[in-house]
Amino acid sequence: MSHAEDHAGTRRDFLYYATAGAGAVATGAAVWPLVNQMNASADVRALASIHVDVSNVAVGSQLTVKWLGKPVFIRRRTPEEIEAGRAVALTDLVDPHADNANKPDADAADQNRTLDEAGEWLVMMGVCTHLGCVPLGNGAGDFGGWFCPCHGSHYDTAGRIRKGPAPRNLPVPVAQFTDPNTIKLG
Ligand code: FES
Repeated sequence: MSHAEDHAGTRRDFLYYATAGAGAVATGAAVWPLVNQMNASADVRALASIHVDVSNVAVGSQLTVKWLGKPVFIRRRTPEEIEAGRAVALTDLVDPHADNANKPDADAADQNRTLDEAGEWLVMMGVCTHLGCVPLGNGAGDFGGWFCPCHGSHYDTAGRIRKGPAPRNLPVPVAQFTDPNTIKLG
């Protein structure tokens, strides 16, 4: 096999895998609106607020719960993630607003995004602000936070949009601790 053929073969493989990967993700993401509609029955709509037991969420992990038909990410951040989020200058952010329902007028500083003063608990809607796909988490993307593979939006460790077509930070819903192990959404 010539060098040129070898190269072409490599490229085909790459394109195949890339396309297959994107298709799988897009299918998963596209399911959400359908699931939402199917679940839009009275009992689901009535759950305007839910309590989530977070006692088993370890540092550096994320719990995804479904609330009002949408995924909500509850991440317990590591000290490194907190530090990375706090080190970012506001002028480096695409969206300068906190997008935090609990702090409507705040700017997007890291401490305005989290539920607790220490910055360990980050609660956000798991819905990309571009066209609504569910971003991948656990340190995904160029900024160590979340990555939306649908069109390539990168969110940082505070869920703030840093690169790609999404215009807004991942929204923080109305949420609070009702006791040290329980977060109430809504
Ligand atoms: S829906 Fe997330 S980048 Fe387009």
